[in-house]
Amino acid sequence: MVGGGQLSRMTAAPATALGVGFRVLALDPQESAAQVTADVVLGRHDDLDALRRLADGCAVVTFDHEHVPVDHLRALVDGGVAVRPGPDALVHAQDKITMREALDRAGLPCPAWRHLATPDDVESAGAALGWPFVLKVSRGGYDGRGVWIVTDADEARHVMERTPLVPGARWLAEERVPFTRELAAQVARSPHGQAVAYPVVRTVQVDGMCSEVVAPCPDLPEEMALEAQRIALEIARVLDVTGMLAVELFDTPAGIVVNELAMRPHNSGHWTIDGAVTSQFENHLRAVLDLPLGDPRSLARWAVMVNIVGPADIEGLLPLYDAYRHVLARDPGVKVHLYGKEIRAGRKLGHVTVIGDDLDDLLARAHHAADYFMGVIDE
Ligand SMILES: Nc1ncnc2c1ncn2[C@@H]1O[C@H](COP(=O)(O)OP(=O)(O)OP(=O)(O)O)[C@@H](O)[C@H]1O
Ligand SMILES: [Mg+2]
Repeated sequence: MVGGGQLSRMTAAPATALGVGFRVLALDPQESAAQVTADVVLGRHDDLDALRRLADGCAVVTFDHEHVPVDHLRALVDGGVAVRPGPDALVHAQDKITMREALDRAGLPCPAWRHLATPDDVESAGAALGWPFVLKVSRGGYDGRGVWIVTDADEARHVMERTPLVPGARWLAEERVPFTRELAAQVARSPHGQAVAYPVVRTVQVDGMCSEVVAPCPDLPEEMALEAQRIALEIARVLDVTGMLAVELFDTPAGIVVNELAMRPHNSGHWTIDGAVTSQFENHLRAVLDLPLGDPRSLARWAVMVNIVGPADIEGLLPLYDAYRHVLARDPGVKVHLYGKEIRAGRKLGHVTVIGDDLDDLLARAHHAADYFMGVIDE
């Protein structure tokens, strides 16, 4: 797996359970996944030699992020390496303009959008999409970095002029979707075409970063849930995705609209470790190895996942482990996952999951545990 972050770390566990060899390409030995993986190749994801060292002797190469240059992936494929998802699929998770063009072609519901070739295009985009609109960089963004809500042309131009772009990135403007809530639909798809769909979840983003997930999405009419799953399965098929696909969705009064895609395990599916028969991490492995997929169904009526994110003021915050005695004693039903990362403001450090029958109770318990870790509360 390319990338040594928490997604890679959480994939190591089912690799161990399945008895599948697991090698990680990490930037340094202290990275989240490198800490728990015996077989670590040190190197960068944009260094073809490092990617070749990773691939050497592996049955398949997959990813915990979408930032590997597509030319490198094509070079690996040309060299006989099985890369899953393949470069022709992955480009749609790398570049939001490429993604919008493909989804428009497939007739799937997207926000209205425009490519902004120069800062001067913001006026016509605003006239077409309305103000405020959502300004995005097409590649290189994550966790809300690379997304701005801009209220007028001056603000839009200002952001464009002062923000450096990663190579190949372009600017796009999207209509600001009046969503009532955000959803995610996850599917796993294997090279031989088997696919499974997870329950559709509700996600809450704070400052553009996922903060809370409830599975399944409360009060979602069955036909809407089926429609969201159908959209995700259709995208997986049309783009020939292998592995996990997450489709971030907006729930609007006019129906479901696609926000963006991730072709890897995704924050919206962390609940599946403790709340589903087969976790997204296990199904990602099964899918890229072209093994039969596991049952994606929930183990309980509800699952709630809340992220542990480094607070703005980390001064005086105790090591996360120090919270264990309190959090674990207070609620033996809470499942805690820490990623072994140094605490930094705004950084995803871990998550907690609780499953059960009473949604309000689960929400309170999950937030209590996460808040205690984050130093928001102290009892
Ligand atoms: N067109 C839109 N209309 C309204 N809100 C939007 C729109 N696009 C994005 N947002 C808001 O900004 C958040 C982040 O946007 P997006 O998912 O495109 O960025 P990202 O940084 O790639 O995200 P991620 O955290 O998933 O990596 C969304 O979850 C949503 O809350
Ligand atoms: Mg997103």
